Amino acid sequence: MNLTNLKQEFLDRIDKVFNIDELNVLRLDFFGREKGKITAVLRNLKNLVGEERKKIGAETNVLKKELEEILNRKQEELRKEEGGDRLKKEWFDITAPGVNVLKGALHPITKTIDEIQNIFYKMGFETADGPEVETEFYNFDALNMPKGHPARELHDTFWIKNPENKLPITYLTGSCEKNENLKNKEKLVLRTHTSPVQIRYMMTHNPPIRIIAPGRTFRYEAVDASHSHTFYQFECLMIDQDINIANFKAVVLNFFQKFFKRDIKIRLRPSYFPFVEPGFEVDFTCVFCSGNGCSVCKKSGWLEIGGAGMVHPNVFKAVGYNPREVQGFAFGFGIERIAMLKYKIPEFKLFYSGDLRFLRQF
Ligand code: PHE
Repeated sequence: MNLTNLKQEFLDRIDKVFNIDELNVLRLDFFGREKGKITAVLRNLKNLVGEERKKIGAETNVLKKELEEILNRKQEELRKEEGGDRLKKEWFDITAPGVNVLKGALHPITKTIDEIQNIFYKMGFETADGPEVETEFYNFDALNMPKGHPARELHDTFWIKNPENKLPITYLTGSCEKNENLKNKEKLVLRTHTSPVQIRYMMTHNPPIRIIAPGRTFRYEAVDASHSHTFYQFECLMIDQDINIANFKAVVLNFFQKFFKRDIKIRLRPSYFPFVEPGFEVDFTCVFCSGNGCSVCKKSGWLEIGGAGMVHPNVFKAVGYNPREVQGFAFGFGIERIAMLKYKIPEFKLFYSGDLRFLRQF
């Protein structure tokens, strides 16, 4: 092959080179130590003689230089282009506003439960839980409300059909787990209060007991500004040899003062719950008017918060305790209610609305 053809071939090929890799292939094809075409011409010189050798040698060297220059120029161009491409590809506007990553937060009910737990943990209470689908036994019978007891009627209960008399899967969860079978024809309910957790806990633990049991409860009720078919309660149970109402008042007062971060008084009104004796309703100072009377407390200066009392001897008997050896108090307060008062939430149903405008405020 003569030098002119070689040059033409080189020029044709370099025209079709579009990146550094292709350029390197071309460089090897012409200048490679073993297979380069120009290298081969130079190596061949030793077979020539005299003038011809001199002439071709000189011409080849000139061509080599020329082609190398073309190669280097092309390389420069490609480098610049590729660098530019990269800049183009990786360019971003550091002044553009960022993508807004949505962050979740705890639901106000969860937050309130956390706050309640933290206060009670400091008083030495632990958390217990039980299933939301309960048996009649835990929800009623063991709480001194046998079948036909009029107090059962006060709980507008969701009964669950269970023709095969099977335990629901959720039954054996929680800290009061116990293997057992449903008694014959025992009915299932959506628990109407958190008090069944008392029973579960006492049946699986010995006194002394200090627990709270926050959780979801259900009643067949119409939804209005302060009621719902689904709501949260927290139960509190303290059992030992000589627990009395003074202990109850101290625990509840301490709780309210820590929770609302202000001085609060409580008031007990006699009331009836089958599983306590004596039983009472608990009121505390209205947090809106500090007890002076306002529209929230209907000018009374007091707000109702829930039921309480000293655990009934029949309840102790039902769980296998000797009522002569132990005594204690229990109460059940509404969680949404105290959350509404603390965070000034006007409507019960906001908790369950899933409305982000509401939820974002917490
Ligand atoms: N379980 C009762 C209710 O939901 C409240 C309560 C709990 C009353 C503990 C007394 C003792 O109505």
